Amino acid sequence: MANVTIIGAQWGDEGKGKVVDWLASRADIVVRFQGGHNAGHTLVVGNQTYKLSLLPSGLVRGKLGIIGNGVVIDPQALLAEIDRVRAQGLTVTPETLRVAENAILILPLHGALDRAREVARGERKIGTTGRGIGPAYEDKVARRAIRVCDLAEPQVLSDKLDELLLHHNTLLAGLGAETFDKQALLDQLLEWAPKILPYAEPVWERLDEARRAGKRILFEGAQAVMLDVDHGTYPFVTSSNTVAATAASGSGMAPATVGFVLGIAKAYCTRVGSGPFPTELHDDIGRKLGERGQEFGTVTGRPRRCGWFDAAMVRQACKVGGIQGLVMTKIDILDGFPEIKIGTGYRINGRAYSYLPAGQMAQAAAEPIYETLPGWSGTTRGARSWGELPAEAIKYVRRIEELVEAPVTLLSTGPDRDDTILMRDPFEG
Ligand code: GDP
Ligand code: IMO
Ligand code: MG
Repeated sequence: MANVTIIGAQWGDEGKGKVVDWLASRADIVVRFQGGHNAGHTLVVGNQTYKLSLLPSGLVRGKLGIIGNGVVIDPQALLAEIDRVRAQGLTVTPETLRVAENAILILPLHGALDRAREVARGERKIGTTGRGIGPAYEDKVARRAIRVCDLAEPQVLSDKLDELLLHHNTLLAGLGAETFDKQALLDQLLEWAPKILPYAEPVWERLDEARRAGKRILFEGAQAVMLDVDHGTYPFVTSSNTVAATAASGSGMAPATVGFVLGIAKAYCTRVGSGPFPTELHDDIGRKLGERGQEFGTVTGRPRRCGWFDAAMVRQACKVGGIQGLVMTKIDILDGFPEIKIGTGYRINGRAYSYLPAGQMAQAAAEPIYETLPGWSGTTRGARSWGELPAEAIKYVRRIEELVEAPVTLLSTGPDRDDTILMRDPFEG
């Protein structure tokens, strides 16, 4: 039986958490493989709402959750999130949650550097979540990061802190920000150690055993292809690879175990933070999408920028991200619009493009080429079968399938777990 990997096909917040939760009933294990607590995944189950940042969304279904080596972990954020979901009645123990011993830690100095650099960038800021994600990944590739396993080796911690602080305090002082004290950081790490280490293990081994035993693994992506550090709208991206291939390297599994790749896309488009967004709407329609869709960032509370569905961008995301099937979410937010537009390509400096080229100036200048479809007067909200959908809504979905060159596998018609229409079981491959 195939595994399934879920990734965002736009700029994040497409509803990955909801879809992972829905599919988790068919899975045995849910694995996070990149990103950190910049992610905010909202799950609505009856009258309970869960907001998860680091914990794999399958925990809500009582499925084993694994945080892979590709994730950057802020121990304080992880412990706080565990406390928060326990207060909501979920069980999180070393039996239900395992953390890769070789995952990277985010320390308070990473958040401080992230925020100080954003201030220094002024108008050219990226609009990061300020949670230290970029600086932590930088330390990883620079080979000076502290990893989960280091919490068991105080001498290693002490030595690594010397190197880390030499680097970070120099930068922080140069930016006019407060510097960090080694002893205080060491004490903090040693206090976290006994709380984090019981969850730590070589998760690759457990995952390999699970694979050989025929267990179904669901990989839960964070962020989205257009925020991928290689394939996204660089430099307005996050600091990890968000494409499906990362599910393998970010968990210690073979590329083939990634299985069927589902890309999640809203029926329109949103973005938080800075950067190009060709189909963005600055008018009443954009405001209406934001209000009806309750488009506020889960992590930062910032209003999300809204616009029409950009089929050229999602087509590109499918190709580079490895997406084989699409999940279209929030189609209910389009209910009642007299007409609906779909971006099918771009005009950049007088030339037509079917894709978004990489150049920063070109991306900023991209004007969408639109196709207009009739809206529908009925409602899609809460529909649980294809037959309940207005004919125009079906036509909209079908047209997007053609333009994006990928089939719609699932349709989401409301925030609740059960407001979902299954068209093809992704676990069947
Ligand atoms: P993620 O980061 O991709 O997991 O997405 P977020 O949780 O940040 O944002 C998606 C928001 O849309 C959440 O508040 C979900 O509860 C909500 N949502 C998901 N699917 C649907 C849907 O089909 N319709 C509506 N109205 N809301 C949805
Ligand atoms: P989920 O998993 C939407 C955006 C930030 C910023 C850029 C870089 O909920 O879809 P970072 O803090 O990662 O260095 O910020 O990426 N961003 C997200 N936008 N959803 C997310 O996660 C995001 N994670 C990061 O707003 O523009
Ligand atoms: Mg989110």
